[in-house]
Amino acid sequence: MLAANPTIEVLGVDRDRLTIASTARRLAHFAPRFRTHCGNFSELDVALASVGWPAADGILLDLGVSSRQLEDPERGFGFRAAGPLDMRMGPDSGPSAADMVATLDERALAELLRVYGEEPAARRVARVIVARRASAPIVTTRDLADLVASVVPRHGGQHPATRVFQALRIAVNQELEHLDRFLGRALAWLAPRARLVIISYHSLEDRRVKRAFQRWAGACTCPPMVPRCECGARALVAILTRKAVTASAQEVAGNRRARSARLRAVEVLAHTGGSEVGS
Ligand SMILES: C[S@@+](CC[C@H](N)C(=O)[O-])C[C@H]1O[C@@H](n2cnc3c(N)ncnc32)[C@H](O)[C@@H]1O
Repeated sequence: MLAANPTIEVLGVDRDRLTIASTARRLAHFAPRFRTHCGNFSELDVALASVGWPAADGILLDLGVSSRQLEDPERGFGFRAAGPLDMRMGPDSGPSAADMVATLDERALAELLRVYGEEPAARRVARVIVARRASAPIVTTRDLADLVASVVPRHGGQHPATRVFQALRIAVNQELEHLDRFLGRALAWLAPRARLVIISYHSLEDRRVKRAFQRWAGACTCPPMVPRCECGARALVAILTRKAVTASAQEVAGNRRARSARLRAVEVLAHTGGSEVGS
């Protein structure tokens, strides 16, 4: 975007200090048009205030975890190389994945794996985690991946621990809570005619984005038995993507992680005047 439009200004926001530092270095040649802010996108008002912008003409949210984070064994997001079972994206994240695995009771662990990982073997995995930690703490990514692989069969090309790692990462970083908070306030951060583009990587995110966009576009939320709309639905945005846009086969061939990406976009019709709009 910076290269394509010589007048545009971009503020790069990430809660991960290391990502902010490396991105600031990589795009230093675009300064002063490119600036960075280390913070949470659910508090975008703080980021906007840091550069003195009242609102943005566009927001692009690229959700989830980056390849750089996944591939650094010290961060504990991936299981291909052994590393500490950490998974915290930033200082605003909660307890580490190792802390969660060590302290949650079996039922809470199973629920977390079922809801955030959509893991069919959630109860079996929770049971084996609780049994193992009684004799030895689970502190590395390899410990956990091997343990999960001992009770979950391999499906296709996916490692058996993929869903368990996704679930823990979402919980540790409260990813869905931050997305909900963002969707509850985003319209106040967008200027008239601004565009909001969101790339999700799993159905828990995409469902939230799709529903918020439909509501903002004026979809009535009254129960079916109500003869006339009482919810006061009115269109605040136009939906630009009738269906989620997915990566082409060519793009997936060059970047396998793009296979699960779902992009949705809206354009603001009327500014909400800084008021918060429920997500
Ligand atoms: C898919 S990656 C983005 C990759 C980036 N587009 C690139 O090309 O390098 C998602 C990024 O969002 C960050 N992130 C996730 N949740 C966040 C949140 N609530 N607030 C701020 N940053 C967040 C992660 O730290 C990660 O760096």
